[in-house]
Amino acid sequence: MPLVAAWCERTERHRDTGLQREFVHTFFALEDGGALAFFQYADQDERPIELTSPGHLALACDAETQQQLVDRLKANGYDPHVTNHGYCVSMYIKDPNNLQLEFTVDPPDVDEINARQLANAHSDLKRWLSGDRTPNNDIRPHR
Ligand SMILES: [Fe+2]
Repeated sequence: MPLVAAWCERTERHRDTGLQREFVHTFFALEDGGALAFFQYADQDERPIELTSPGHLALACDAETQQQLVDRLKANGYDPHVTNHGYCVSMYIKDPNNLQLEFTVDPPDVDEINARQLANAHSDLKRWLSGDRTPNNDIRPHR
């Protein structure tokens, strides 16, 4: 599976703890157009991620479908969470089996974004793994 993206990210400071985390989010392409994605946190030895599920399943949809899902979930007492990652807008919700689901909407310039990530994926990952944790996601809206 080819490495097609390595998003180097730095979270906003947590409003209570002040904690800010750095991670790399890699994507490996599947032949059907999907991808397997993996995270590595810079401080994962000090703050291990609790792995209680097989991760999460992300499904692409259009903005109208995502909004309909949000509306239906809210109308039925659920609390979906929507985050703009810059390269997609994601809505997260757990299904009745406690599996985290993500419904993603690509921005209009997704092909440009993907091409830029593909061109830099290996060098960005190498840089991050060598200790330069400078984020490369300048399209994520910052609060
Ligand atoms: Fe995801």
